[in-house]
Amino acid sequence: MDLDKAIHSRTSVKKFKSKKPDWRDIIECIDATRYSPKAGKNFTLKFILVDDKNKIKKITEACQQDFIADASYVLVVISDHSRLKNSFGNEFGKKYGKQQAGAAIENFLLKITEKNLSTCWIGFFTEKQIKRELKIPESSNVEAIFPIGFGFGNQKKKNPIDLDNILYFNQYGNVKMKSPKGFVD
Ligand SMILES: Cc1cc2nc3c(=O)[nH]c(=O)nc-3n(C[C@H](O)[C@H](O)[C@H](O)COP(=O)(O)O)c2cc1C
Repeated sequence: MDLDKAIHSRTSVKKFKSKKPDWRDIIECIDATRYSPKAGKNFTLKFILVDDKNKIKKITEACQQDFIADASYVLVVISDHSRLKNSFGNEFGKKYGKQQAGAAIENFLLKITEKNLSTCWIGFFTEKQIKRELKIPESSNVEAIFPIGFGFGNQKKKNPIDLDNILYFNQYGNVKMKSPKGFVD
């Protein structure tokens, strides 16, 4: 799939078909995270791919979002910031850990889109419950959760924020860029 098409068509899906995707396709999507940028070359994520229905039910309860139960798989993304904190101190270690998790996750989401799979980024959950259920070490963070399956329905029409509202040139608030000829467009 063309990169622009993947970027533009990636969307959150909350309805899943009962047909189960091939887990090897999901592994390819997870593999894509390894190529994302990482501070000091420290890759900090680990993943748990869950297809046990009972565990998916428990995860659904911890997220309080019923649609998760219909997914064939749930991917739990975990990070350990300790090496980043050792290298960069507590404040920057934590900051970099969160930033690089987001970068890695976007690679995963684009690959999910390319494979015609569906998911939704879940950031709301009770971390303690997830950790207990999946035996995740206390020192790790649960960054995000992704129910995965074949999605239902047409793609939602995207209505991204106007570039004019978010892009400035040379200083905050300046919406005009000087053209190469020296006059303002
Ligand atoms: C950090 C983060 C946390 C999110 N948490 C949830 C969540 O707990 N439940 C949910 O239904 N969607 C969640 N979403 C998905 C957003 O609602 C969704 O991305 C947004 O509505 C834009 O839609 P789109 O992904 O189709 O472009 C989360 C997204 C992000 C980036």
